[in-house]
Amino acid sequence: MIKINNLLKSYKIGTETIMAVDNVSLTIAEGDFITIMGHSGSGKTTLLSLIGGLTKPEKGTVTISGTELWSISDDELSELRNKRMNFIYQFSSLIPTLNVLENVLLPTAFSKNRIDAIDYAKELLTIVGLGDRLNSYPSQLSGGQQRRVAIARGFINKPQILLADEPTGDLDEETEAEILALFQKMNTEQKITFICATHSSEIAKKGNNRYRMTSGVLANITD
Ligand SMILES: Nc1ncnc2c1ncn2[C@@H]1O[C@H](COP(=O)(O)OP(=O)(O)O)[C@@H](O)[C@H]1O
Ligand SMILES: [Mg+2]
Repeated sequence: MIKINNLLKSYKIGTETIMAVDNVSLTIAEGDFITIMGHSGSGKTTLLSLIGGLTKPEKGTVTISGTELWSISDDELSELRNKRMNFIYQFSSLIPTLNVLENVLLPTAFSKNRIDAIDYAKELLTIVGLGDRLNSYPSQLSGGQQRRVAIARGFINKPQILLADEPTGDLDEETEAEILALFQKMNTEQKITFICATHSSEIAKKGNNRYRMTSGVLANITD
């Protein structure tokens, strides 16, 4: 369903060229739970943003259900992203002037079923343990709580594909286990395809396909 062919993205810093993603090919089936481990700087975030159509590759292609990203118009690309994908970013991406509920609802701003979305947002916030903080602002939450809002927001548009960049980075072990259980539930019940970069070996080992990135090169973990 997602076909990635010979993806390449480099950055030039002065005279030096850094191969952030170096000739990566990968096929992801619907309902897969893909985990990608790797040291910081190995290219995980760049790869996720290429797969999600946020960064244009220098070489190579990403094809989602037969549609090649970047071969379609900007409007079509945004629509594909809005309707079918969602992102949980590595660093806090909450809007400081919106409360918790409004932040979760943000990806549905242009959707027709906003009333249903409000109920679903409340349900998701309850699942992540923030059902009583709907009206709080990001500045009133801990880092871990902000992270959980971002996780709830990741599910709000019922994406087919969820790209999660170190989603449990600043969570304690207990919360991480709860979030992992939520990911697995969404993966099996809603057939959401997960592509998850992670430092956590607990999360990594749950992947049905596990990868390691080293200096931009992706390798399958087969043990
Ligand atoms: N916008 C950028 N400009 C220059 N270099 C970048 C940029 N984004 C990432 N890089 C470099 O690309 C490499 C991969 O980065 P990244 O994808 O963020 O890795 P990871 O998520 O595994 O930590 C690193 O060497 C990083 O410094
Ligand atoms: Mg990163």
